[in-house]
Amino acid sequence: MRAIILVGGLGTRLRPLTNDKPKQILTVGNRPMLENVIENLANHGIVEVILSMGFQPSAFIDAYPEEMCAGLPIKYVVEPEPLDTAGAIKFAALQSGVDEAFLVCNGDVITETNVSELVGYHRNIGAEATISLTPTDNPSQYGIVPTDGHGQVTGFIEKPAGPDFETNLINAGYYVMEPSTLDQIANDRPVSVETEIFPKMAEDKKLYALPSETYWIDAGTPETFLKANLDLLNGERGKKINGVHNQASVSPNAVVESSMIGRGVKIADGAHVKNSVLMEGAEVEKNARIEGSIVGERAKIGESSQVLELTIVNHEEIVEKRTQLISIRLPETAD
Ligand code: GDD
Ligand code: MG
Repeated sequence: MRAIILVGGLGTRLRPLTNDKPKQILTVGNRPMLENVIENLANHGIVEVILSMGFQPSAFIDAYPEEMCAGLPIKYVVEPEPLDTAGAIKFAALQSGVDEAFLVCNGDVITETNVSELVGYHRNIGAEATISLTPTDNPSQYGIVPTDGHGQVTGFIEKPAGPDFETNLINAGYYVMEPSTLDQIANDRPVSVETEIFPKMAEDKKLYALPSETYWIDAGTPETFLKANLDLLNGERGKKINGVHNQASVSPNAVVESSMIGRGVKIADGAHVKNSVLMEGAEVEKNARIEGSIVGERAKIGESSQVLELTIVNHEEIVEKRTQLISIRLPETAD
């Protein structure tokens, strides 16, 4: 089976890190988020990935010039303008000549979900499309998917405003679709799968869903991006990994606790880094303290500075000596 991965969004919630690169290129476990996504697909019989790109496609093409990613061949499809999720699925499917059932994945969702089981369920039940579901504590940030108890989807409510939810099972952002789904998607305008296509298919009783209890995270916000990285260190997601890249240089007089430290990162004497992500080439000068924060590529944190509580320092940014940053995005963004 082939998989279309949606990677064309603007990544606004992760700005400024995504000002000029797609979020799926930001690193989770010291490699692009996208590789974390594709790795699970490769374990479940997906033979080719079609990358549905819009914003900054060159970031992907430059990263994977051989058209291989995490062990799978990839095809690039670039939308002329943003087509929204369903429009993007249709455009990618038509451009790549998809003519049998296919998988769709949100490119910021890292999961160990059993895709083979989802495909088997979809086929057995004869659905036109099947959505993978995951339980969550905060359904209002996602698409809520009530079912009738036999797997048939009875409604689809994207990011509801009110406090009452029929279920805590949400759209995990993984779908199996028959090609006939594409006929329901208009050609001439952006179309959302969440607010237009799935609600309509639910009404027509053609949509099914299967819950999964496996590891799942949408790494598209600062909190969840950080968590996606730290989960690899604390064993939340499979085997614990060592977060310090073997080409990073950490002074023996610095302390690094539960943090993802990228290639070429330099951490000087007396610095303390805890529960944080330092991307490739970042530099931390003497006695600086970084906690619960994200530092972009080649950013410099000056001597004795403090970077705390979900602060984001953009790529290449320089934080002067003795600066204190608490819950700030540097530079500040409109979002
Ligand atoms: N090609 C293309 N074109 N891709 C797009 C476009 C577009 O116009 N718009 C968004 N995407 C991509 C994003 O890059 C991302 O990988 C994926 O589609 C989903 O978009 P998000 O912006 O991350 O959506 P969300 O997190 O708010 O909500 C979605 O995901 C949740 C699960 O993580 C929805 O599908 C929810 O229903 C779902 O619960
Ligand atoms: Mg998302």
